[in-house]
Amino acid sequence: MADSRPIGVFDSGVGGLTVLREIHDRLPSESTIYLGDLKHFPYGPRYPTEVRGFAFDIIRYLQGRDVKLVVIACNTATAAALSQARETFDVPIVGVIGPGAHAAVEATRKGLVGVISTEGTAASQEYLHAIKEIDPMVGVFQKACPELVDIVEQGDADSPRAEVALERDLAEIVKLGADVLVLGCTHYPLLKPAIGRIYPGCFQLVDSASTTAEKVRRQLEHANLLADGARPQHEIVVTSVPERFNEVAEILFGERVPEVTEVDIWEAK
Ligand code: DGL
Repeated sequence: MADSRPIGVFDSGVGGLTVLREIHDRLPSESTIYLGDLKHFPYGPRYPTEVRGFAFDIIRYLQGRDVKLVVIACNTATAAALSQARETFDVPIVGVIGPGAHAAVEATRKGLVGVISTEGTAASQEYLHAIKEIDPMVGVFQKACPELVDIVEQGDADSPRAEVALERDLAEIVKLGADVLVLGCTHYPLLKPAIGRIYPGCFQLVDSASTTAEKVRRQLEHANLLADGARPQHEIVVTSVPERFNEVAEILFGERVPEVTEVDIWEAK
C-alpha cells in the first residue's frame, strides 16, 4: 500500500541538503521535511550528550509531523544519537555513517581509508568501528577538520581559503597512502572540486549522500512504504534566523531550495 507521509531529514545546518538532494533524485515521488538546526550549529565541537539531546528533540518534532522515516543527515548527530534513538523511538531511523563506511570498503583497493570529519565524529570512532565491522583488514586514518565546516557554511568551499585548509588537513592522509577519502561530514561534498585541485587523482572520494539515499529507498521498498507520488511536497524548516542559509543551500543543493521557514521546536521548554 502506498504511504504518502513525508520522510524527515535533519542536520545542524545546510550540510544535510546533500543527502536530501540524493533522496529527491532517487525517490522523486516522496514528500520530505528538512530541518536545519541553525540554533545549535555547529554540532561538531559539542559534547555528544548535548548533540543527542538536540537530535532527540528534533526526532520528536519530526514524529509529531507524522514522518514515516527519519534520516539523520549529519555524521556528528549520527555518531552521538543513532543507537540510542533507535532504542527510544518507534519511527525507523537511518544514519549516514554505516552507508559511507560500506561505500569506502567497496572502493578501496589498497585497504587504506582516510576519514575527515568534525571533532565529534572523529572522537566517537564510529567510522573506524563501522569500517572494521565490514572488513577488519582495512586500515582507517581519521582526521578532525572543523575549519572545513565553517568554510562550507560561509559559502567559501571553492575558494583559496578552502585550498589552504585542505592542503594542511589532508597532507598526513596523502602521506599515509590512503586511496579512499571519506567525506565524513555532510558539509564536505562541496569541497570536492578544491580537493581535486590540491591533490589531483590521490584518492577516490566517498560521501554518504548517495549511499544513504539508496538505503532509504531500499528500506521503504522493503517495508512497502513507498509513496505513489501524486503530489510530493517539500518543506525546509530552520530553528534560527537563516542568515546565509538560502545562498549556501542553493550552492549545495544545486538548484533553488523550497521556501525556508523558521520554527522554534524548543519554544515550550
Ligand atoms: N553536517 C555535520 C556533520 O555531518 C557537521 C556540521 C556541524 O559541526 O554541525 O557532521
